[in-house]
Amino acid sequence: MANLIDGKRISAEIKDELKEKVEKLKQQGITGCLAVIQVGDDPASSVYVRNKKRACEYIGIESCSYELSGDTSQEQLLELIQKLNQDKKINGILVQLPLPGHIDENKVIEAIDPTKDVDGFHPQNVGALLSGLPGFVSCTPAGVIQLLKRSGISMEGKNCVVVGRSNIVGKPMAVLMLRENATVTVAHSKTQNLKQICKCADILIVAIGKPKYIDASYVKEGAAVIDVGIHRNAENKLCGDVDFEDVCPVAGAITPVPGGVGPMTIAMLMHNCVESMTAARA
Ligand code: GUN
Repeated sequence: MANLIDGKRISAEIKDELKEKVEKLKQQGITGCLAVIQVGDDPASSVYVRNKKRACEYIGIESCSYELSGDTSQEQLLELIQKLNQDKKINGILVQLPLPGHIDENKVIEAIDPTKDVDGFHPQNVGALLSGLPGFVSCTPAGVIQLLKRSGISMEGKNCVVVGRSNIVGKPMAVLMLRENATVTVAHSKTQNLKQICKCADILIVAIGKPKYIDASYVKEGAAVIDVGIHRNAENKLCGDVDFEDVCPVAGAITPVPGGVGPMTIAMLMHNCVESMTAARA
């Protein structure tokens, strides 16, 4: 039976460490403020935004939110970002995704000052990650690395399979695992022999976006299985991309949904916010 990787506990541990750091920075007169922008009223986005603001409050940094109507133009959004880029009080800017269809997400991400891009989505930060230079790292994959490290699961020399190739999760995840000296395979929905490839993984990271897609037949005995997916089923219950009950008896360690990767994303966002407060980034 797999050991449970407790994202709730590990994220709480990280937030407590950050809270202490923020107190110390405050004593030096350094404070922080995260600007959170939401366009439209997608209910899932509203929950994420609320949780992000709560986390700021917990670790002791300010947040200010901009809730814009769904018909806000791209120009208006870019203007707000320019204003926040120039505002010395703001050191982190987050635009909740997805954006309404009439707005070009890439244009918006590129408009954010890279030194305030606490999501780590700006091409300058993505390039820095690829080159091994300092910069902000996308929060979900950074959270997965922390989950593994803090659970005593070494990545060095291991076969790591990442299922999913998004800019937010799959691609940065692969680069971060490489940085930990893992042997990395990136698979996705078009991969042939996906099952055989997954079955070779010592560490299997699943971000394919399909509910309960990965069952025990995809998992090597004793593997660590990290589930990045989050879905709501017909009974309004949360589940991941992994069939938890089926995989549990085979895996060596596994993350639950909820309470696995989800809370880690917010903890790592707070990590990036604290990083953005320090003079090195100002
Ligand atoms: N939408 C889904 N995940 C994320 C995230 O990590 N950051 C932002 N800004 N939007 C998201």
